[in-house]
Parts: sequence; C-alpha cells; structure tokens
Amino acid sequence: MPISKQTIKLVKSTSPLLKERGEEVTTRMYQILFSKYPETEVLFRNANNQPTKLATAICAYAENIDKLENLSDAVEIMAQRHVNVEIQPKHYPMVADSLLTAMTEVLGADVITDEVLSAWGEAYNFLADVLKKREKELYDA
Ligand code: HEM
Repeated sequence: MPISKQTIKLVKSTSPLLKERGEEVTTRMYQILFSKYPETEVLFRNANNQPTKLATAICAYAENIDKLENLSDAVEIMAQRHVNVEIQPKHYPMVADSLLTAMTEVLGADVITDEVLSAWGEAYNFLADVLKKREKELYDA
C-alpha cells in the first residue's frame, strides 16, 4: 500500500521540529525501549552514537517521504547493519511503540496530535516493511 497524501503532509510537517529536537526524541526512545523491552539492549552492544544516527535517519525520512528513491542507499546500510546483529521482524513493533511514545512525550501532545501520531505510525510501518523485506533477502541469501 502506498503512503497516503494526508500522511505525507502530516509527517513532513514534523520535519523542521525533528531536525531541531530529533536527538532528544531518539535519546528518550532508547530509554523507553530498554526499560519496556529489556531483551533489545544486547542488540546494541556494539552500536555507536545510535540516538544521533536514528535521529538523522528519521529526519531524512520525514523530508524524503515523497521521494523515497533518495533513501535507497541509507536503507541498504541500515538493513546490512540490522542483519549483522540479527534484528528480527518481531523487534519492529517494539521500536515503533517506543518511538511514538517518545515523540509525544518530548514534542508534546499539542504538536503530536492523534492525527500526527497515526500518520507517523503509518509512515514507520511503511519503512519497517521496506527494511524487513530487504533483511529477509539478506538472511535468505
Ligand atoms: C524503521 C525502523 C528503523 C530505522 C529507521 C533504523 C535505523 C537505523 C540506523 C540509521 C542505524 C545505523 C546505521 C549506521 O551505522 O550507519 C541502525 C542501526 C541499528 N539498528 Fe536500527 N532502525 C530501525 C529499526 C530497528 C529495530 C526494530 C531494531 C531492534 C530493536 C534496531 C536495532 C539496531 C541496532 C542494534 C543497530 C546497530 C547495529 C550495529 O551494531 O552496527 N533497529 N538502525
């Protein structure tokens, strides 16, 4: 399913704010992830500057959600890193939950309205599907 026009508009509208405060969001996201889903922490044992990297990726996604071909190199790198540490499809909802919660907490419910939150949920799932598909190919190879 393609991403709806409304979702594209809402996600793009958060891109300036994410550029400014993305690292606060992703730093909080990891706190939530590791406390709510402690089994994920070990996956990050060799990761460096992960909040910065994830914030950069999320900003790039918000900006390029209507021109995803700009992201294909970045997606390939993410998929390869993920496969190296054996990220599985079951992990994706854990990150979604933590990320959406962190966005609302850090940016505020007046900015991250229910509408914006569900747009980000849809956008996250779209990107997650792209990553899972590529990761499956790499695992199968
Ligand atoms: C749409 C969702 C996701 C995005 C956008 C994303 C993005 C990224 C990015 C940008 C990197 C860094 C790549 C680099 O080193 O240049 C990365 C690495 C990593 N991601 Fe994700 N990720 C996602 C989902 C997940 C999930 C579900 C998990 C598991 C809980 C996960 C765990 C990791 C780990 C452990 C690394 C570091 C691997 C290493 O040690 O090199 N990611 N991810």
